Amino acid sequence: MSDMISERQALAVRMHEAGVFAHPEWRRAVESVPREVFLRPGVFVPDETGRWSPVPADRLDPALAYSDQSLVTQLDDAITTDDVSEAVRGTPTSSSTVPSLVVDMLGKAGIERGHMVLEIGSGTGYSTALMCHRLGADAVTTVEVDPGVARRAHDALVKAGYGPQVVTGDGLLGHPGGAPYDRIISTCAVRRVPYAWLRQTKPGGTILTTVGSWPNGAGLLRLTVNQDGSAEGRFLEHTSFMQARAQVPPPVARDLAARIAYADSSRVTYTHPSLLLGGGMPAFLAQLSAPGSQVIRTADEEGLFQTVLVDAERESFAQFIPDGRQWQVRQGGPVALWDDIERMLRAWQRAGSPGIETVRVYVTVDSHTYRVNDDAVLRWQHRLLPLSPRGRATHAECS
Ligand SMILES: C[S@@+](CC[C@H](N)C(=O)[O-])C[C@H]1O[C@@H](n2cnc3c(N)ncnc32)[C@H](O)[C@@H]1O
Repeated sequence: MSDMISERQALAVRMHEAGVFAHPEWRRAVESVPREVFLRPGVFVPDETGRWSPVPADRLDPALAYSDQSLVTQLDDAITTDDVSEAVRGTPTSSSTVPSLVVDMLGKAGIERGHMVLEIGSGTGYSTALMCHRLGADAVTTVEVDPGVARRAHDALVKAGYGPQVVTGDGLLGHPGGAPYDRIISTCAVRRVPYAWLRQTKPGGTILTTVGSWPNGAGLLRLTVNQDGSAEGRFLEHTSFMQARAQVPPPVARDLAARIAYADSSRVTYTHPSLLLGGGMPAFLAQLSAPGSQVIRTADEEGLFQTVLVDAERESFAQFIPDGRQWQVRQGGPVALWDDIERMLRAWQRAGSPGIETVRVYVTVDSHTYRVNDDAVLRWQHRLLPLSPRGRATHAECS
């Protein structure tokens, strides 16, 4: 089936030297699972112009297949290397995640032999195969929202000798058919942890997922499910994953000028808006303060870059305009986005700029509460708004 054995072993050695394996059986899984089988029909490699060059599976360099990097297999929810012969522009929508990141997450989720595991975001099926190798295929269920991606993952898993249940569906709903699970692990990012995942995890079980609304502001969250159906835990580190499809932010860049035409206020800010773009704790905390917002960086006709924060759900914006050594911030709409974020960033600095590992989370059926240490100001509650006696709103309100 495969003759890339030496490359596979070399990857396992590099990962071992980097201290990635929480258990020797994960090393054996990496040594055994042929990643190239999962990279079909091929991968996209970025070029220096920002385009993606297709590399069909039969021309895949073994060094690339076993590089410790993410390999993109689909663009714009549809395009695979079968569809194009030249470099194209597009947004990655499915991939094989960085192997060391996957294995690190399997360790952090505390996955062990005997566990029943639900994976959200099958992608190529490579991470599914690693789990099948260690736990047996009967213990693994994987959910993928894209039918074509799910079919290819299923076929690759079968070809590699594994037969877990591959479900085509929205992973935000979990997969009740296989519940309860000991572990739920997600390889796509969610804006909040779906309550279905709590319901489908055994008390004492673990949920590991990337949580965040901004690609550069997300963190890896580990939760333990309580007897009463709530869950609690903390963020482990900053991380970044493709957003769950239903939660991809709406396109606002095209009509940006109209959205920011009328401001309610304009003032000087000494807090540099590039903090929003840089990632780390400022971006993480900013997206907690304005969870429905997105940061847009555009160039005007003169080629000058501008940064704009848009909250489409709450019809509000903050636009930053350079003004000598400081910035003017124009804010419009019912929520003064930057006032909230700037106040929170100052409180965070006063508290000694604590790291993401100090952020604790408590999840119930209708709320997420985030706390930085026990700071009275650095605390957010995102609630799901009741819509009617029969249903609930699907968006979070921040209080
Ligand atoms: C980074 S890839 C997963 C990588 C995969 N674990 C691997 O090792 O190949 C993220 C995947 O999540 C899928 N996805 C996005 N939203 C989803 C959802 N709501 N439910 C299930 N899968 C989803 C995407 O289609 C994509 O294939």
